[in-house]
Amino acid sequence: MNDHLLHWRSEFPILERTTYLISNSLGAMPRGVTAKLQEYAELWATRGVRAWEEVWWNLAADVGAKIGRLIGAPPGTVSVHPNVTTTQAVISSCFDFTGRRNKIVLSDCEFPSLLYFYRAQAARGARIEVVPSEDGLRLPLETFLAAIDETTLLVPVSYVLFRSACLVDARALIERAHRVGAYVVLDLFQAVGTVPVDVQQLKTDFAVGGVLKWLCGGPGVAYLYVRPDLQAQLRPTFTGWFAHRRPFDFDVGPIELRDDAFRFLNGTTNIPALYACQPGLDIVARVGVEAIRANSLRQTARLFEGARARGWRVHTPLDPAERGGTVSIACPHAREVERELLARDILVDYRPGAGIRLSPHFYNRDEELEYALDQIETILRTGAWRRHTAAEVAGSTAQTD
Ligand SMILES: Cc1ncc(COP(=O)(O)O)c(C=O)c1O
Repeated sequence: MNDHLLHWRSEFPILERTTYLISNSLGAMPRGVTAKLQEYAELWATRGVRAWEEVWWNLAADVGAKIGRLIGAPPGTVSVHPNVTTTQAVISSCFDFTGRRNKIVLSDCEFPSLLYFYRAQAARGARIEVVPSEDGLRLPLETFLAAIDETTLLVPVSYVLFRSACLVDARALIERAHRVGAYVVLDLFQAVGTVPVDVQQLKTDFAVGGVLKWLCGGPGVAYLYVRPDLQAQLRPTFTGWFAHRRPFDFDVGPIELRDDAFRFLNGTTNIPALYACQPGLDIVARVGVEAIRANSLRQTARLFEGARARGWRVHTPLDPAERGGTVSIACPHAREVERELLARDILVDYRPGAGIRLSPHFYNRDEELEYALDQIETILRTGAWRRHTAAEVAGSTAQTD
């Protein structure tokens, strides 16, 4: 049982009204966000432009430091950006793809936005090798490792795959990449907040992710960690005045880059989102990711067993060493069943090829898991899934992953 964690439930208003099993997509909003956004508005209203000097300019550093503590990053190594795709643009702007070392190796298990972004870098001279997986659910490790060679520059890879929640052997990838002189960009989006991560122990060159899922931080804030000894060697060409040593000189000569995380910023940061994300980051830090992981392994195992006992396929590995925080269940008519679950205030999502994704977090009760499984069973038995026509299902608004 996770009784020791359940007192946090009162911090998340939506838990009173719904069965919230979708923290892999959008973590529940902590009630403290309302006060934080109020604080933002008050400061703007009362201090006006002085807010920049007094709080806003350095907010990126404060939030970067909070996130850094959650991923084992030393101070001054984490910058904040509006989304993960932008972090990839910042990273790749540090490199030249016209030389012999110009290959980017990634797999088709990556989040599509990253595939779109990296494929588009072909226009800058990059050679893109997309390693195919069998089913989009598991990284083909041996083929992937073999693709990383002396001409490889970047290896963007997710630590936890978004469709299946498979945990990737990041150490093996990083070791291989470093042996041939390539850099790894580890996407921690589906990991941080539910799987313990230490970027220094992993020895990754770059790490990225966002705060809106397991960190309950809301949209608009993503992070970029750069290995401390690498920072000074990199000069992003996607840059701007926030990265300048003396932005308020408004000097029009070439930029003089800062040495810390601000080196990787460009234009004005997303101030309201930097306020809104803090209650979630603080709560996760207080609960502790080790405690969250212990509960997650227990609850995902329950879901796994519950699904298997009902005869449904599960696309998430049973081995705890290979599993993140989500269980992807491929029951019959999964797409229509998901629509009916939403209609019954059981918040989950559906991904093609993966099925229904259920993601318990520290604030979920065991009974909620049983309830969700029972409801899937009932929806199938009673044929309630038939209420959802193909047209409705096709037109359903996508949530973020
Ligand atoms: C692994 C992973 N990477 C990246 C993203 C999203 O990227 P962005 O912040 O650019 O929307 C998601 C989903 O939202 C994801 O699951």
